[in-house]
Amino acid sequence: MGDIVILRLGHRPERDARITTHVGLTARALGAKGMLLATEDKTEAESINRVVKAWGGDFFVRTGVSYRSTMKQWKDEGGFVVHLTMYGINLPDCIDAIRTEWRSSRDLMVVVGAEKVPGDVYQIADFNVAVGNQPHSEVAALALFLDRLQEGQTLRQEFKGGELKIVPSEHGKDVRKGQ
Ligand SMILES: C[S@@+](CC[C@H](N)C(=O)[O-])C[C@H]1O[C@@H](n2cnc3c(N)ncnc32)[C@H](O)[C@@H]1O
Repeated sequence: MGDIVILRLGHRPERDARITTHVGLTARALGAKGMLLATEDKTEAESINRVVKAWGGDFFVRTGVSYRSTMKQWKDEGGFVVHLTMYGINLPDCIDAIRTEWRSSRDLMVVVGAEKVPGDVYQIADFNVAVGNQPHSEVAALALFLDRLQEGQTLRQEFKGGELKIVPSEHGKDVRKGQ
């Protein structure tokens, strides 16, 4: 299996901060290694880094990347790019082909937008994938895509080195420190 990294486009710090945080946290919880942000927003990186410190794992956030050169470099280095867009090929019709590439150890970049996505993203992407051909949310699209790609296995991953750990509980909250 290749590594999975998310590229978040069009993040407007004053409008999209909460959604971008949710994109990052969802990516982390569902098996991605990190998130690249095509906007300079240190506050965003800090808020996700705080979660990583508390809850473990080694998810990274890098801000201020150029989307075009980052996507092209990813492909030049042997990775492939999936762009999530409601205009793309519906997920059930392309997920097997994507999973085959990813299982052959090719690193996968998953691109999600915020506002209007630049036209060349559709051209550079290897796969333009719709999670249903209806408008909804980048968080929902990413979660469904990552879950289908990994066939649910990612929910069992371990997050090591955090300050806090949840002991699953049928009723109430059981959170341990320094486990
Ligand atoms: C709220 S939408 C806005 C899309 C924007 N109007 C455009 O021109 O693409 C923000 C992001 O959510 C994701 N998204 C929304 N609906 C989707 C769907 N049905 N399938 C895949 N991704 C979707 C896409 O990544 C999109 O760029």
